[in-house]
Amino acid sequence: MKGLVYHGPGQRAWEVVPDRRIEQPTDAIVRIDTSTICGTDLHILKGDVPEVKPGTILGHEAVGTVVEVGSAVTTIAAGDRVLVSCITACGRCRFCNEGHPGLCIGGGGWIFGHLIDGLQAEFARVPFADTSVHKVPEELSDEQVLFLADILPTAFEIGVLNGGVQPGDTVAIVGAGPIGLATIMTAKLFTPARIIAIDIADARLARAREFGADVTINNATEDPVGRVMELTKGLGADVAVEAVGVPETFELCAELIRPGGRVANVGVHGHAATLHLEKLWIRDVTITTGLVDAVSTPMLLRLIEGGRLDPTMFATHRFALEDTEAAYDVFANAAETQALKVVLSAAPVASQRQPAAAVAAAV
Ligand SMILES: NC(=O)c1ccc[n+]([C@@H]2O[C@H](COP(=O)([O-])OP(=O)(O)OC[C@H]3O[C@@H](n4cnc5c(N)ncnc54)[C@H](O)[C@@H]3O)[C@@H](O)[C@H]2O)c1
Ligand SMILES: [Zn+2]
Ligand SMILES: [Zn+2]
Repeated sequence: MKGLVYHGPGQRAWEVVPDRRIEQPTDAIVRIDTSTICGTDLHILKGDVPEVKPGTILGHEAVGTVVEVGSAVTTIAAGDRVLVSCITACGRCRFCNEGHPGLCIGGGGWIFGHLIDGLQAEFARVPFADTSVHKVPEELSDEQVLFLADILPTAFEIGVLNGGVQPGDTVAIVGAGPIGLATIMTAKLFTPARIIAIDIADARLARAREFGADVTINNATEDPVGRVMELTKGLGADVAVEAVGVPETFELCAELIRPGGRVANVGVHGHAATLHLEKLWIRDVTITTGLVDAVSTPMLLRLIEGGRLDPTMFATHRFALEDTEAAYDVFANAAETQALKVVLSAAPVASQRQPAAAVAAAV
């Protein structure tokens, strides 16, 4: 079989690797039908995630078909089509029991393409299969559910739920990449009064409006705090979601919120940011951080089934799985290619470049 192997910073190759086999009775072997690339994979390739050892297959998002299950697996069987999530749950540790498998200490958590071989490959070994994959309803296509493997639950749980978005809120979202756009899409489930998207790239702000942002602010050319204060009669946003991962944007979020407001940090940070307690101590603010648990995935899947959520608008480019290297080049160069998410299909694809589906989210 073949997979996309990380060979140290800046180096990757689609190459022959050993066939997958069941190692634990709780494992399943899944044939990957559809996969995608995450911004985190680019962080790994830059060398920002040193836990990823050279020789590891990358990728933590896929839809596939079960080909074999270990002797202890009881809820899925060969032939089942499943969503393989970025988060694996041992289902038995303290954190899994408390609904936080992102923090799993029983061998799960974020392991694919991180601590074990990942999902940008022809086959994958999926540990704790019973508690970690989701059967895909027959009527839904791979592409309809693929983005539930990471960006949708991340944006919903770490942005919208941690941020406590309520009907009528003004929600400011800093960063309009896939995560920020998924935050716009899932914030709408709670009917905020106004969604403000803030980014330094006009092309991303245009996408934010397509996804449902009411107001967009380019913070490279405009004063975002001044604009948000103007829009909220000097109070500030109820919720600010940080979806970039640099100190400036975290600090900006803390300035954007009203007294009693909430900052939900989603971005992965590589540097220290300043927390201005000298201003914030008196303002009753709440600041949250987190890694996705992906426990909202079944609910999000029901919304897709019910026609209330359509994540296919994230798919901007399509490639054959064996062309994963070319897909990386396009995804890594988003400023030029306007890529949001690339779809990697094991089945032949009609065209390598298709415009984003012009389907608006139904919520
Ligand atoms: N917490 C989690 O579980 C989790 C999961 C997945 C991704 N993430 C993180 O979420 C963040 C966003 O992910 P993404 O895939 O959307 O990233 P992305 O790089 O595609 O998008 C980031 C956006 O931020 C914009 N930006 C950059 N600098 C800015 C600035 N100074 N002010 C305003 N906007 C700016 C860029 O133009 C871009 O549109 C990343 O840090 C990623 O690692 C976190
Ligand atoms: Zn990811
Ligand atoms: Zn666990």
